Amino acid sequence: MAKLIGLTGGIATGKSTVSEMFRSEGIPVIDADEIAKEEIKKGKDAYKEIHALFGDEILATDGEINRNKLARKLFFDIAARKKINEIVHPRVKRIVMNEVKHLEDYDTPIIVLDVPLLFETDFHKLVDISVLVYARRKDQIERIVARENIDEDYARKKIRAQMPITKKRELADYVIDNSKNIIETRKSYQRVLKKIRRSLDT
Ligand SMILES: Nc1ncnc2c1ncn2[C@@H]1O[C@H](COP(=O)(O)OP(=O)(O)O)[C@@H](O)[C@H]1O
Ligand SMILES: [Mg+2]
Repeated sequence: MAKLIGLTGGIATGKSTVSEMFRSEGIPVIDADEIAKEEIKKGKDAYKEIHALFGDEILATDGEINRNKLARKLFFDIAARKKINEIVHPRVKRIVMNEVKHLEDYDTPIIVLDVPLLFETDFHKLVDISVLVYARRKDQIERIVARENIDEDYARKKIRAQMPITKKRELADYVIDNSKNIIETRKSYQRVLKKIRRSLDT
């Protein structure tokens, strides 16, 4: 049985960046966010359920769900957020664990699951080891603003809506520090991977 590593973090702390580091040395990564994107595409059951809840307001011109529009709506509506989570999360969990099963046919010792809401959705209970990709709030804000073309104020709100990174730090087994440059992050990643490999051998 492969050991499952749950990789998580806050928004823009560097989950995808660290996922690439795992991939680059042949460790398979399953990306929960990619799966979620797939599951809300036009024609899928989750799409229909979400569309039924919000109507055309959250659609792009091509009829697909516009994730930014949806996110802005959910921001001010906790009940709706809960509903969306109940639609999307169980599906994503099921598909991720299905992919794990497929990968296990290849005898891989480690599989990484990139799950932004690892702790919030109880996904950590399904993994052997949890790893947090850490960055400071100011790094997060800078990176969100650069990436998403939104203002600082909205970036701050997005961060505030999440479980605090300090809390995630307490819950995680290991922390990869991505608050400096990529070279430093790679070193932090190497150190953590070494520790994980050592712990799995015993
Ligand atoms: N150490 C770093 N220094 C500067 N920019 C970074 C660093 N790590 C990631 N980034 C950039 O910040 C943004 C968020 O990183 P990403 O890995 O996509 O985060 P996440 O997957 O956690 O949302 C990306 O545009 C990425 O290129
Ligand atoms: Mg990402």
